[in-house]
Amino acid sequence: MTSDHKPRVILLAAVPPDLRAAIDASCEVVAAPGAALPPGTDLAELLKGVRGALTTIRAGIDDPLLARCPDLKVVSNVAVGYDNIDVPAATRRGVLVCNTPGVLDAAVADLTMVMLLSLGRGALDADRFVRSGGWNAGAFPLTRDIAGKTLGIVGLGRIGRMVARRARAFDMDVVYYKPNRDTGAEAEGLATYCNRDELFQRADFVSLHLPFTEATRRGVGAREFALMKPTAYFINTARGSVVDEAALIEALKAKTIAGAALDVMEKEPIGADHPLCGLPNVMLLPHIGSATVETRRAMMELAVKNLIAAACGDRAPAMVNPEVLDR
Ligand code: DGY
Repeated sequence: MTSDHKPRVILLAAVPPDLRAAIDASCEVVAAPGAALPPGTDLAELLKGVRGALTTIRAGIDDPLLARCPDLKVVSNVAVGYDNIDVPAATRRGVLVCNTPGVLDAAVADLTMVMLLSLGRGALDADRFVRSGGWNAGAFPLTRDIAGKTLGIVGLGRIGRMVARRARAFDMDVVYYKPNRDTGAEAEGLATYCNRDELFQRADFVSLHLPFTEATRRGVGAREFALMKPTAYFINTARGSVVDEAALIEALKAKTIAGAALDVMEKEPIGADHPLCGLPNVMLLPHIGSATVETRRAMMELAVKNLIAAACGDRAPAMVNPEVLDR
């Protein structure tokens, strides 16, 4: 705390003026460098002496960093995912971690459908076909209907359910796998449960909607791609590290699967020299699942509420490790 008792915070994300004013009213902002820190920045040095940090998934908050920042009490991530933060270490050290669940589900589900429909109807190839003058030489090859095809959703959480709802509106059959069955979703007619291997075998489109944890690291790899049909497509809007990227590249090269669409990669950002960029059968997006004006605003509002509440000793609306408060 400072002499006027405002908690000191740092903003590692660009905050719009009205939300910045709300932070200033309750907290002392010691620095607001935004998300893009100069290479080589010592993050722990920046965070020293602050009680709260507003962060994005670009800020790695690990145990050694937390050890150097004993005053830090809250990390408010402007994201639903928090795999950039060592949550067990934060919990052990009494640091509350907050995130932004719920407000980005529709945006990510919409983008998933954009990817699914683009893959299925060959939209990117068709665009290249027109631009390269191919149309003058003949018709674009026929694609396949979306209706009646099977979407396999791995991880039927909030986002997975919204994808299922959208896919049902396109008259797709939806199957899902998650460790604990979602009987509510089944009763609603959103999706049918099937075991994991069967999902990869049956689906015309496989879409991942699960968080990145040690348990899910590279969980989809050569084995799963081998199970898929050669006509099937793979979609990832979750996290790159839940997939064995080298195995995916091999499957795309060997045409074990028909194609893929990725909004997330193992290491982001990737450059034009990345092996994925040389493949014609993959659609690559720059991690834009939640990147709409409305959704990013909603995420920022929630993250700022989390930061202010937790830094001021109140209950934050969206906590990842609320058990920290029981201490
Ligand atoms: C999230 O919220 O986890 C997104 O991937 C970040 O845009």
